[in-house]
Parts: sequence; C-alpha cells; structure tokens
Amino acid sequence: MSEKSLSSQLEEYLPRGMLKLVRDAGEKASELGLELYVVGGVVRDLLLGRANFDLDLVVEGDAVKLAQELAKESQARLTVHPHFGTAKLSYTSFSLDIATARRESYSHPGALPSIKSGSLTDDLCRRDFSINAMALCLAPQRFGELIDLYHGKDDLDNRLIRILHPNSFIDDATRILRGLRYEQRLGFKLEPKTDELLRRDAAMLDTISGDRLRHELELILKEDKPERVLKRAAELGVLTKLHPSLRGNGWLSNRFSHARQACKRTSPSPLYLCLLIYNLSEEENEQFLSRFNFQKRLAQAMRHTLQLKTKLHTLANPQLKPSDIYQLLRSYTTQAIQANVLAAESPVVSQHLQSYLARLRYVKPLLNGEDLKRMGVPQGTQMGAILDALHRAKLNGEVKTREEEERLVHILCYTL
Ligand code: CTP
Repeated sequence: MSEKSLSSQLEEYLPRGMLKLVRDAGEKASELGLELYVVGGVVRDLLLGRANFDLDLVVEGDAVKLAQELAKESQARLTVHPHFGTAKLSYTSFSLDIATARRESYSHPGALPSIKSGSLTDDLCRRDFSINAMALCLAPQRFGELIDLYHGKDDLDNRLIRILHPNSFIDDATRILRGLRYEQRLGFKLEPKTDELLRRDAAMLDTISGDRLRHELELILKEDKPERVLKRAAELGVLTKLHPSLRGNGWLSNRFSHARQACKRTSPSPLYLCLLIYNLSEEENEQFLSRFNFQKRLAQAMRHTLQLKTKLHTLANPQLKPSDIYQLLRSYTTQAIQANVLAAESPVVSQHLQSYLARLRYVKPLLNGEDLKRMGVPQGTQMGAILDALHRAKLNGEVKTREEEERLVHILCYTL
C-alpha cells in the first residue's frame, strides 16, 4: 500500500464543517475497531483540485452500526439499508454515504453483481477505473493516507482512463459509457489497452437493462458538454449500439450548444434528448424509447418533436396569421417546439415557432365564459364558438381593450 499522506490537501479541500465530521467519523470508527476510508470520485477530484463534496465513505465492517453511533452524537438524520450494508447521514447542508466494504461477483455479463462484505482491497478492485479506485484513510494515526492499488494517481498525472482488468467492460458494460464520460469531462484519453477492449466489447451494451442504460445516458446529458461524449461514442462505435441510427456529428454538437444557451434556468437534458432523436424516423424513435424505457412525459416530448417536424412545411408560409400558428402548435409540448426551433433550417419556420413560444401561447382574451354569461350568451356550443373566435381575434391583434372584446362578442352573437 502507498504510504503517501494527503492529510494537508484533505484539510484544505474539505469545507471546515465537513472536515470535522469526517475526522470525528474516523475517530469513532477507530474506537469501534473499524477502518474508515473516503473512496471514489472525491479522492480523484481532490487530486485534480476539482470541487466535489459528494463524500462516499467505506468501512471495513458494519457501516450501519457505525452510522448509528455517529447519528447518536449529532443532529444528523439517519437512513439505513441493512440489506445493502449502507447508510446515509444527512446534515443541514450535505450528507455522508457510508457503505460496508464489499466484494462483488457477476453471475453473467450485465447482471447486477452479487455482493458480500469484504476488505477495502476487495472494494477497490470491483471499481470501474483506476482513477476512481483510490481511497484515503480516515483513521486518526493514518489520516489522509492514500491507498492507490491500481496506480490511479499516475493515471491522473498522465491523464488516462484505465480499467482494472480485461473483463471489466464485459462484467458491466455501463463502464463503457462511464469511461467516455470521464474521458471527455476531464480531457483525458483512454489508455490504449482500455481503448482496444472498449471497442471490442461495445456490443456488450446489449446486456444492460433499459433502466440502467437510461441512467447512464442521463448522466452523460448532465455533463457540461455532453456532445463531446456523444461524438466520442460515435467514433468508437458505441453510439450505434444504443441505436443504429443515432449520430454524434457536427450537426448535433452545434444544436446542443444552442440548446444550452436556450435553457438558462432549466435543465437542457429533455431538449438534448429531443435533438438526439431528431434525425430518427418515428419507428426508430419508438424502438429507442422502448429500449431506454423513458418516462411518459419525456417520451411524449420526443414523439411530439418528430410529429411536429413533419408539419414544419405548413409553418414555412410567411403569410400565416398568429391564430393559424397558435392552432398548429397548441397541442405540442414546449420541448418539442424548442427542439424544432433549434433544428429548423427555414428562418420563417423558426420565427413562427419562436413567436409562439415567446408570446402567442400566453395570449388570452380579457373576457371569459363567466363574462359572456353575464352578457347573456347561453352556455353551450355557441359560447364555445364565440370564445374561440374571440381568442383568434385577440391573437391577431384585432381586439385589444375590454370594450373592443365586448363589441366583438355582440357581433358574434348575431353571426355564430
Ligand atoms: N463505481 C464503479 N462502477 C460503477 C459505478 C460506480 O466502480 N458502475 C464506483 C467508482 O469508484 C465511483 C464510485 O463508485 O467513483 C461512485 O460512483 P458515482 O457516484 O457514479 O461516481 P463518481 O466517481 O462520484 O463520479 P461523478 O463525479 O460522475 O459523480
């Protein structure tokens, strides 16, 4: 085991409150005769100087018991999963995940692993990449000692993504997507053997359930520049394993960066998905949706995107009235319209879609059904027709004030 101590880096890196908790946890574990470690992403990011306070702790021994002891001495809320040997301590502004060190084995490729408790070494050797397989000891006498069995630190220095053993992608093909995600996020490269095995095993993605695949795709779409991951996945023959018609090309990169600018306050992920499937046929999209088991709302946005795409020629007419535009677009989800704004080639189409999103969808007459009742319009089909005509007139700017609306209602009463 490496003897290198990172205690001073850990002290500088963690916020003060978190550092105290981690120290206390290490001491408590020692009192109970247990060894506690920080593992995974935080160790990687500490060495890289990137902020990450999603602390994962691993204990050689009973994580639930340790978490219960820690909870007794603090205000933390405790959640335990005895079956998995994991516990979560939630403090006001952050949480600590503590897991029992474990050994994993895979009954067949793509299966969820069967789990037994084990040593720290067992726990590290079941991990995806060397840069994610490092630990820092929290025992008081060894505080900050780096355990780096797979030379993850060297790989960080050399900017390499390396799997731990040749069957890694076969055991768990989600690592293929995870590897590309880290590679592009960190600006690293796949180490040559890892690169070769990843290409060889890309087809193992077929062994992964839709839910797990979707989760990995969602993680990719949360990255700052997901288009880079998709482009790389295309180069390596991985993207077509998700669906043969998906493309990670310049068109997609360009649209993704525009999508990000369009979503300043909301997550761009749903819009990314609508763009990802934009060049699929409706039938191919259905295959993609069922493979990834998307939730209903997202699936609907993706379906609407393609349905609207087939209607864009109608929107290319510059003479369309606002009420025509409204009528054409009213039943489509916002994301489907946004995706078509970004993908449409025609400036007229784009303009019409944007005017709907920015203005037309919010336009409502001042008068409502109650007002019309008071004006003596009987409830029923006539009232519906008058309200529709009033709405159209409002959209087209033919009525503005309440008086103008009332005047129009009187005229409509005689003509409808
Ligand atoms: N891990 C793994 N194989 C997986 C998923 C996770 O080996 N299929 C391990 C890695 O050691 C990883 C840790 O579990 O570092 C935590 O997983 P996760 O939270 O997904 O990753 P992070 O490393 O925290 O990365 P990110 O910054 O993307 O959250």
